Amino acid sequence: APKPVVNEPGELPDTAAHRGYSAVNPENTLAAYAAAMKAGAEYVEIDVHTTADGVPVVMHDQTVDRTTDGVGDVALLDGATVAGLDAGSWFSPAFVAEPVPTFAQTLDLMDTGSSDMLLEIKGPETREQVHRVVDMIVEAGLDDRMVIQSFDENVLRYAYERAPQIPLGLLRGTLDADPVAKAEELHLTYYNPSGTALATRPSVVRDLNDAGVGVFVWTIDSAADWATFTDLGVEGMITNRPGAFIGWKSAQ
Ligand code: G3P
Ligand code: CA
Repeated sequence: APKPVVNEPGELPDTAAHRGYSAVNPENTLAAYAAAMKAGAEYVEIDVHTTADGVPVVMHDQTVDRTTDGVGDVALLDGATVAGLDAGSWFSPAFVAEPVPTFAQTLDLMDTGSSDMLLEIKGPETREQVHRVVDMIVEAGLDDRMVIQSFDENVLRYAYERAPQIPLGLLRGTLDADPVAKAEELHLTYYNPSGTALATRPSVVRDLNDAGVGVFVWTIDSAADWATFTDLGVEGMITNRPGAFIGWKSAQ
């Protein structure tokens, strides 16, 4: 049976490895995802964009400039070009020629482990682009190991109309006036604020949990902040340091 969304009192938050195990691997590469799975993260956080010829690839930024040896907008490059870029050298010579993974390759890798995916679809994507990503998840049989999250409300609407069984999370850098109402409107299973936003009104965790909605908070890398947000009862800690967070949890 699927795990209840909302934690029991005293239950520690799940670990969501932000862009993979990105503290010690180049973000959003298969190396980073494999390391996160090996560390035992319950979730691996992944960012997806679609190329000009309709290939979903993993990349955080809208351009390839910061994290590869190429230049330009992902949405204006073709899939073969992006998949041929070096996404490791910028981080360390130890990762030279580590490629930009396609989303299909990422699904194949995740299928070999047991971590769930916290998949961020970076907007603005078209309905067709979102449906393609969702269809790939369903065809891979991974819809029960997936949470789709986005800052873009339309992305969540498009995902829901295509595959309502996949849980949805709304990312927020500032809190809505009424997060519970927003969760109802968008059929959310999770409401995922930044730590800074959540600190402005910590009581929203209780309100959301009472409505059956879980909270994943981002991006939280210090032990002091892990303690603060664990005490608030969040369901997930999105962190660049999954190994350290797992170690911290085992000492609680
Ligand atoms: O998972 C939440 C977090 O990833 C959102 O911010 O910029 O790292 O994608 P960003
Ligand atoms: Ca992200």
